[in-house]
Amino acid sequence: MHSDTTGSWMPVALSGDLPAGTVMPARIPAGSVALWRSASGRPAASADRCPHRGMRLSHGFVRGEALSCIYHGWSYGQAGNCLRIPAHPRLAPPETIRVTTHRVEESDGLIWIAVGNPLSQPPRLTDFVPLRSLTVLAGVAAIEAAAGAKANLEGLLEVGEDAGNICLLLSPRDDEETLTHVLIKGEAGPAECTAASRTAESLRRKAEGLQKKEITQ
Ligand code: FES
Repeated sequence: MHSDTTGSWMPVALSGDLPAGTVMPARIPAGSVALWRSASGRPAASADRCPHRGMRLSHGFVRGEALSCIYHGWSYGQAGNCLRIPAHPRLAPPETIRVTTHRVEESDGLIWIAVGNPLSQPPRLTDFVPLRSLTVLAGVAAIEAAAGAKANLEGLLEVGEDAGNICLLLSPRDDEETLTHVLIKGEAGPAECTAASRTAESLRRKAEGLQKKEITQ
């Protein structure tokens, strides 16, 4: 998590995992989030709870520039305002019907959600190409122990024999679970991508083993 004095940025997904017109679940300290991308390509993050009857908006669908709830079809704009209530097609939904939204930034192939009110922008990772994300059932300390290295302030951890060529961007969900984005330095061919993926998987297994050991001790 990249922080300043007023807040921080969490890398919640790879850009490539959220195509235009789709929605996916994500998690930040404030709770579950429906992360979605409009048909025109703009990402947005809404609280994952429909103001109508509480259905998860991440189960919904994107139409044009709106996110619709799967239950009764209420739809919401990127600012969180309710745009349409299908059971009352002539009603202009009142301003008071809104879903909470979070600031989103997208850069260098990653999507970031603001936690609090950070004054700075998310860190730039221009030297890296994001490869994939994986959930590690271990905290940052166990991942660092498995890698034999420490993450920097931005959450970047160098791993593998070619340290510096493969980095994990760590985004802790809690003390026992870390969303981990695998990044490769520069252009990489299929062989390098497969090797980086294997390195990350083996580190995941090792970190999860260490985490279990710590819990059972
Ligand atoms: S619960 Fe979402 S529209 Fe009814």
